[in-house]
Amino acid sequence: MNSITDIATVRVWLRDARAIAVLTGAGMSAESGVPTFRDAQTGLWAKFRPEELATEAAFRADPQRVWDWYASRREMMKDVRPNAGHVALAEYQQRHPGRLTVITQNVDGLHQAAGSVGTLSLHGNIFDDIWLDPCAGAHGFGGVCDVSRAQPGRPPTCADCGNLLRPGVVWFGEMLPAAALAAAEDAAQTCDLLLVVGTSGAVWPAAGLAHTARQGGARVVVVNPEPSELDGVAHALLRARAAAALPALLAD
Ligand code: APR
Repeated sequence: MNSITDIATVRVWLRDARAIAVLTGAGMSAESGVPTFRDAQTGLWAKFRPEELATEAAFRADPQRVWDWYASRREMMKDVRPNAGHVALAEYQQRHPGRLTVITQNVDGLHQAAGSVGTLSLHGNIFDDIWLDPCAGAHGFGGVCDVSRAQPGRPPTCADCGNLLRPGVVWFGEMLPAAALAAAEDAAQTCDLLLVVGTSGAVWPAAGLAHTARQGGARVVVVNPEPSELDGVAHALLRARAAAALPALLAD
């Protein structure tokens, strides 16, 4: 059974932990001004059903609508900066090389921007583009898809074979990047302490990492101002916001 805990208690656990893993979600970036997905009053999903937008089928059915949604999120994210929580994690990694692994569901790149090393991005990066399909090869010898003639504001399309660019994020129903997921599973299995920061725990397999850590004998601490679906797998709950809690927890 979990219990509400405090910073001082978790600091002792962190001091005694040989290997620390941190699983972050949208709440980690909330104080950087990035809307979360499911918080009713601000969450992006409050306006959309995920199936309408963040799936391959939705993109194939209406590329312009999905592309516009991601373009609006990219525009909103282009000026956001890491908050004190991201910075605290990165600085801890610098002071204690190899001891803390960041695993994130976020696609905003803020852990990397803060200087975190070896960040395991389970859901990709919203600023990356990838081709929707393998190239149909209608380019002549050695040619490849290109969007040099793409029309501004339209989903970028290869003029020769019609292939579409899509956001380099993991959509519902898609496999997570195998290497990142395997490394995250390993970190969860081998850590002594898992901090679960700013996630509702609604989406698997990311949420399953908390169960993996618990089963592997790690202490699991949820850092979230609100209840989450992972509270039940936690030893302790820190009802706090990431940008305040992490600097306090990780200060030497
Ligand atoms: N500090 C810590 N936690 C916070 C903060 C904060 N400042 N603000 C909000 N939260 C918490 C909320 O209480 C909520 O539990 O962050 C969580 C955000 O949950 P979601 O919006 O569901 O985001 P997340 O858990 O990351 O979603 C997982 O779902 O839509 C997919 O791929 C998407 O990666 C995403 C995945």
